[in-house]
Parts: sequence; structure tokens; C-alpha cells
Amino acid sequence: MYYPEELIEEVRMKNDIVDVISGYVRIQKKGSSYFGLCPFHNEKSPSFSVSGIRQMYYCFGCGAGGNVFTFIMEYENYSFPEAVKLLADKAGVRLPELEYSEEMKKKEGKKSRLLEINKEAAKYFYFQLKSDKGQIGYRYLKNRQLTEETIKRFGLGFAHVTSDDLVRYLRSRGYDDELMKEAGLASFDERMGLHDKFWNRVMFPIQDINHRVIGFGGRVMGDGNPKYLNSPETMIFDKSRNLYGLNMARTARKNHLILCEGYMDVIALHQAGFTQAAASLGTAFTAGQANLLRRYTEEAVLAYDSDGAGVNAALRAITILKETGLTARVLNLEPYKDPDEFIQNMGPAAFEERIGSAENSFFFELRILEKEFDSKDPESKTRFHREIAKKLCLIQEEVERENYMEATADKYHIGFDSLRKLVLSYAARTGLARPVERPRSGISSKSTPEDQAKKSQKLLLTWISDMPSLYPRIRSLLSPADFTVELYRKAADRLFAGLEAGECNPAAIISLFGDEEEQREAAALFNTRLAELTTKAEQEKAFNDIVYAVKKHSYDHYSAKLGSDVEAISQVIAGKKALEELSKTHISFD
Ligand code: UTP
Ligand code: MN
Repeated sequence: MYYPEELIEEVRMKNDIVDVISGYVRIQKKGSSYFGLCPFHNEKSPSFSVSGIRQMYYCFGCGAGGNVFTFIMEYENYSFPEAVKLLADKAGVRLPELEYSEEMKKKEGKKSRLLEINKEAAKYFYFQLKSDKGQIGYRYLKNRQLTEETIKRFGLGFAHVTSDDLVRYLRSRGYDDELMKEAGLASFDERMGLHDKFWNRVMFPIQDINHRVIGFGGRVMGDGNPKYLNSPETMIFDKSRNLYGLNMARTARKNHLILCEGYMDVIALHQAGFTQAAASLGTAFTAGQANLLRRYTEEAVLAYDSDGAGVNAALRAITILKETGLTARVLNLEPYKDPDEFIQNMGPAAFEERIGSAENSFFFELRILEKEFDSKDPESKTRFHREIAKKLCLIQEEVERENYMEATADKYHIGFDSLRKLVLSYAARTGLARPVERPRSGISSKSTPEDQAKKSQKLLLTWISDMPSLYPRIRSLLSPADFTVELYRKAADRLFAGLEAGECNPAAIISLFGDEEEQREAAALFNTRLAELTTKAEQEKAFNDIVYAVKKHSYDHYSAKLGSDVEAISQVIAGKKALEELSKTHISFD
């Protein structure tokens, strides 16, 4: 931890979450909580809740949540120590100089030095662009119709032809050679010694969602190879978990984000007013990036190049987006190659129209698939229809599947009944698309056992933190070790320790995690509720089911580890006993 825990608690308690959030968001009292429009995603009806009693906020729409520190981190793009500092100043609490543990000092030290050297390099490149030697780069950007403001906003720069220019500059600023290499800014070889990695290139600093420079892309002047050279992955630069431009796109407050292929596409779109655009970093779109996107939007509009490579990339991205639970639409850029060219030729209004008419990803996939078949040949046509049926089978939800069947039958002139029969016969053969049963406990059987276990562990923690009086009834049956996800275990450990001492303070538990992502996850632990349970009998039943599910999963988890884990044996013995006990008892709410 950066500051002593007691001090962090003091700062937290002196900043009432309702007061702090009211300064940023309009919230209104409703029952015991306050509600308002979520500042972290676009919505029309309020699903953002702030609880004064629990000192937490949570959005039932996008899952954003946490305590007062998390809110400042998310809203202001601050790190945890920065958020603590802001709120300490506000409440007049004096903070000591940061206290780092040795290990943290090393890790954090290296990270922040990498961030620092990147920032320094970005400044240097930016400065070069404006110098005499940078004229080629500057003219290049101007030729591509970028305005001064855009160049500044994206911090574009230039690395000129001298081979150790940056290295010398960074040395003069006191950075050592090792760090330059580790940051991917310089490399060493026998002939040239330590030399710049980037030269004769226009430089695109790549920022994370907190606007920190984590790497670079550089476009060569002229026809050199490679056209774009990117920083290698480093401790701070994970290409599969960042998107170019997302730091700005995330606050665009649109109901979708535009995903494109290139840096120039993003920049051209932002300049034309489409600040909701982002791009992957010279590698294919990944699940990590889809997860990141999902924090800010439910729909991605793909604006990939209109050539064959672009279409294939779009097809792969669609699969990933769907697996992550996002919907996707595909924008048609014809007759132009990419968004940049499109905007230059057609202007923003035409692009806006294309967004409106972007094709649903399912029909996009079918349209591409269709090209492999010959509609004049009955045999080939039949095979195409079978492929359609197979794809329809993959749609889990019945209503959605029916709707797609109807639209597809219509579009491809297939009789609805025969298409339906085809789908059913595939479904029967492959076991897909069976209607899913939803058990009362709200733990969906669609998800994997691992997901279900996580869900029940979350539900249990929320329940106990909402009704601390239940704790004495389960304390002999459950322990923090039953929470098989590390972050959950840590949270349960604290929650249970607090309850032993007669207090229940989930908001304080969130501060144990210094990372925004972990704080969100921790907040979700205390905000996972079951809807639709009205009667007390229903609630009791669900609670008993959940306790049982958590214990059962823990028992299975440790049983699988017998032999390799010394602690497992005692957990398994205790688990077996508790499960027997649970099957005989009924935990009542009275
Ligand atoms: P494109 O070749 O489509 O680039 O590559 P572009 O943005 O249209 O480039 P201009 O307009 O000719 O300047 C799309 C993206 O693929 C990555 C880069 O991220 C680029 O923005 N890329 C491309 C590389 O990483 N390396 C390459 O050699 C080429
Ligand atoms: Mn281009």
C-alpha cells in the first residue's frame, strides 16, 4: 500500500461519497440510495446508484463501481495515490511522503521510469517536428490535411535521420542506456553502438486510457520498410490490452465506439468530429481489447479497410466482440479504402450517414459467406443454406434466434418453415440452441462452472455485507478459503475479519486494491444482487442455494488439488462436513 491504511481510511471517511459525487453528477434520492445518469457510459435512464450508507457507487448498466477513491480514479483518470491526494487536500488531511515497500519501489520505480522516459521521448519528437530538420515530417502531416490543433492533441512528432539523436538527448537528461533499451527506444549493435530505434519517421505516441505514453508507432517517410514501426512490448506496453485513441474515445459519450485499423484513421476521424474512434496497435484485434471496450460501450462499429485483408480482419474481430458480449456493425466505406480517405473525399456528414446504415454483423458475415457459393447451382445453394442454419444455431437466446431466422428467410428468399426445420435438425444433431433453463438462484446455466462459481461467490459477499446479521449463521460453515478467486478471497478475508469484530465496512475493503480494474471488480462483489426475489421464502431459498453452491465449488476445487497442495486435505475434510451439515440445515433469516 502506498500510504498507511489508517490514513487512507481517514481520508475516505472525511469525504462523504454522496457529497463528492454530487459535485460531478446530478443524483437524486430514491429510497435509501441516490440515482443518476452514469458518467461512465451513455444512457437515457438512470442506472448509476450511490449509497451513502455503504459509501459506494455502482452502475447496474455498465458495472462501474467502487468507493470514493475509485470514482475519482475513473472520472479524473487518476492513479490511486493521485486520488488519495486529491481527496486528502479536499478534507484537509496531511499526507506524508509516499511510503513504498522495497518490492513495490522496484516495480513501481521501473514502471514510472519507463513512463517518464516515454514522456520525455514524446516531448522530444514533438519538438523535432517543429524544428528545421523536422520539416519533412511536418509537411507530410499537413499534406494529410491535419490541423495544428490535431497535431498537438495527438502529440505527433518526428524522429529525423540522425541515428543517435534521441539517445544523446536522453543521456543528457540523465537516463541510462539500459532504460532506453528496455523502453524500446534504442537498440545496440557492434557497429553502431547504442542507436535510436526510430528514425526518419513521423511519430505517433500511444497512450493508455489514463493518457500516459506507453509506446510509439512511427511511419516512415517515403516508401521504406516497414511502413509503420511500433515499439516492442514492454512492462508498460501490452499491445493486446490497449487501443490507440481510446483515452479520448472513452469520454465521447456516444452509444457506440468506432474501431478502425490505423493510427491515421483514428486521427482523421477525431479531427472530423468522430471522437469515438479507436484502433488496435499494429496487431490483430484481441479479446483483451474487446474487454477494455466493453467498459465503455455495448456496440462497436467496425471501420476497417475495404480490401480483402480488411474484410478478414473484420470477420475475426466480430467473432471476438461477440464472445465478449458486444454487438458489432460493419461500416461500408466503398468506394474508398479506409476512413481517412473516405472523410477526405466525402466529408463528415456522409460518414455520419454510413454509421447510421452500418450493417449488422450477422448479415455482414452471411454476405461474405455467400460469395463462396453459386446461387445458380441448386447443390451449392443448398450448401449455403446449411451454412446459414449452422450459424443460426449458434444464437443462444430463443427470441433472438427466431428474429434472425425470420429476417434471414426474408432476405435470402428461403421459406421460413424450411429454414426453421433446417436449424432444428442442426440443433438436434449438435446439441446447440436448446432453450436454456434459468434456475431460481439466478445462476445461469449458460455460463461455465467457473463463471457460476464466481457469480455465487459474489452474490454471497453482497448478501452478507447487506445483511451482516447472517454472518453468525454461516461462520462455522464457510471461511475465506472457500472463495476460490484470489481477489474475492482477499475481500472475504477482510469482510469476515471485520464482522468478527462487529463491523461491516465494504467501502474500506475496496481501498485495499490500488488498481482501478481490481477496485471495480471488488465493488462488484458487494453489488451483485438477485432481481425478482420478493417473498422472504424465496430469498431464504436462494440464500441457502448460494451458500451450498459456494461450499460445493470450494470442495470440488480443493478435491482436484489433493496430492499437490498440502492445505487441500484439511479444506476437503472440512468441506465434506460442512456440505453434510448444509444439506440438513436451513439457514433462516429470522
Ligand atoms: P495501413 O497500411 O492500412 O496504414 O495499416 P494506414 O493507416 O492506411 O497508413 P497510411 O495512411 O498509408 O499512412 C494500418 C495499420 O496497421 C499497422 C499500423 O498500426 C497502421 O496504422 N501497420 C501497418 C503496422 O504496424 N506496420 C506496418 O508495416 C503497416
Ligand atoms: Mn491510409
